[in-house]
Amino acid sequence: MARGPVITGNWKMHKTSAEGTAFVQKLLNSVDSFTQVWLAVPFTCLSALSGTAGDSSIKIGAQNMHPEAKGAFTGEISAEMLRDSGAEFVLLGHSERRHLFGESDEFVNQKVHRALQSGLIPVVCIGETLEQRRAGKTEAVIDAQLDGSLKGLNGQEVKGLILAYEPVWAIGTGETATPDQAEEVHAHIRRKLRELWGEEVADQVVIQYGGSVKPQNAGELMAQANIDGVLVGGASLDVETFAQIVNYNKKMV
Ligand code: PGA
Repeated sequence: MARGPVITGNWKMHKTSAEGTAFVQKLLNSVDSFTQVWLAVPFTCLSALSGTAGDSSIKIGAQNMHPEAKGAFTGEISAEMLRDSGAEFVLLGHSERRHLFGESDEFVNQKVHRALQSGLIPVVCIGETLEQRRAGKTEAVIDAQLDGSLKGLNGQEVKGLILAYEPVWAIGTGETATPDQAEEVHAHIRRKLRELWGEEVADQVVIQYGGSVKPQNAGELMAQANIDGVLVGGASLDVETFAQIVNYNKKMV
């Protein structure tokens, strides 16, 4: 995967297929072909939107999956089912999954392995809570999440995934990490990747920042050396706002 920028919208539990289709059609008219734009959409939108996006620069993906290939897991969805519906990537370990649904690093790790085996690109989310940051534990928390969520992967596999650093205190709160605060953690993540998988792998992994990204701060965040894109929640729901983030570089020329 090229080192970015990859700009991903995470719609969470928003939009019907009709609403999603209208959004993608409008977005297609307003994005540069060289920008990688990804949309993590509700399961029910996958088929329709992967059709609408076609072979454009917009990739459609899901927000979660179960690690098992099949079985008695009522209400769950497998990697193969996501592929069958046109998904190309999947968010894994989003803080809402970790905190509201009790997902552990071990569970996220099983999903990462399954996603890679199934040809889905995992976007693995990590990040500390405010309490952990205040206690000076940010790096320790990040290290534990990286060790746990990426356990057992080889360098080739790590090159095939995306990491998203999303400080929990910045998600949906309007409070963004400053570019310096975010860069500090991103640089730490890249150092840790270097330690675990070597220079070549560490240099290639896309690391996105997420947490209250908006048109006003996207460019400044992505200008940091180790920030290769953004993962956008709330500001990805309105197509004009999201298009401004996608086209952030137009303001810089
Ligand atoms: P936010 O969400 O942009 O609304 O803070 C980010 C996310 O949850 O990925």
